[in-house]
Amino acid sequence: MKTTIIRMDNENIDHKALEAAGKVIRSGGLVAFPTETVYGLGGDALNPEASGKIYAAKGRPSDNPLIVHICRVEDLFKVAGDVNEAAVKLAEKYWPGPLTMIFKKKDIVPFKTTGGLDTVAVRMPDNGIAAGFIKASGGFIAAPSANLSGRPSPTDADHVIKDLDGRIDMIIDGGPCIIGLESTIVDMTGSVPMILRPGYITGDMIKAVTGSVEYDPAVISDVPEDIRPKAPGMKYRHYAPKGELVIVRGGRDEVRSYICAGIDEDLKSGRRSAVLSADETKDDYKVAALVISVGARDDEDMIARHLYAALRRCDDENIEAIYSEDFSTPRIGQAIMNRLIKAAGHRIVEV
Ligand code: TXA
Ligand code: MG
Repeated sequence: MKTTIIRMDNENIDHKALEAAGKVIRSGGLVAFPTETVYGLGGDALNPEASGKIYAAKGRPSDNPLIVHICRVEDLFKVAGDVNEAAVKLAEKYWPGPLTMIFKKKDIVPFKTTGGLDTVAVRMPDNGIAAGFIKASGGFIAAPSANLSGRPSPTDADHVIKDLDGRIDMIIDGGPCIIGLESTIVDMTGSVPMILRPGYITGDMIKAVTGSVEYDPAVISDVPEDIRPKAPGMKYRHYAPKGELVIVRGGRDEVRSYICAGIDEDLKSGRRSAVLSADETKDDYKVAALVISVGARDDEDMIARHLYAALRRCDDENIEAIYSEDFSTPRIGQAIMNRLIKAAGHRIVEV
């Protein structure tokens, strides 16, 4: 299949091109598009065949439900039932934005889109290109992250092209994503909102609106297969680079000694190694083949934005061993570490 690539930016939206993208969706095709979090791989959420194609293009297990993306708050009520007051308040406060909410699904949403579940995840992205594309497509776009299953989510169109060129009809290149980590997922079907996947919208931000919040125990556990996560996708090996990633936690000197000793061993055995560090500590690891600084310690937005590109760069450079510093920053550190720990297959060393 030939993949058409179209380019635009949020200050200069090409509505004619978005109409063409919408036409692809209406005829059952697939289009990758930018959002503020990561790129999505879109198909018509109300067309079971389109959802089937999404699973096939990604190589994704079909029991892993897709998020339905909308561009008008009122469209929520067409796909979701039992929308409670807390959800309405959250939508008012954080939509459009990086928040996905789960509700009882309405019949119009095919089970193919929800991976067989009777609930549906809904999100309204905060990105002009995404909004225009969803509108041109009829209003309901099913979209997982636009990566091959198991790989880090794409935060730039180049990542999408690398994974999906030739597998989908069209890619809308809207430049790099601002947030860089997938949306917060919160289950609104119980009496208290429950976070299934941490993201830029934190538990505190949700609690400020709804008065209470809970976490799926799997979100806070560092232990693999300890507790079965409620979001089906969170159980799969995820975000993973090809090299073996380990997170090293401790004081700066201890972390430096441990990582440098590891790199020495790798050099002896001919393994190519890399380090993910903060700006402040990037000169601690001069012996590594590659040191990627993801941002200053006090700029957690930057760290989040650069994380997936850093993991992908390790793949591009055929890195076999990756050492990462810990990035437990105050606000979105929980989301950053949730992804990093999964990418590391839960390998964490305390020094
Ligand atoms: O930021 C995002 O959310 C991005 C952009 C493209 O919007 N999308 C995204 O989709 O990350 P995906 O498919 O990579 O991750 C969606 C997660 C999966 O872990 C899936 O299992 C979970 O959401 N999910 C979807 N529907 C669900 C449901 N009804 N109940 C529980 N979990 C659900
Ligand atoms: Mg994904």
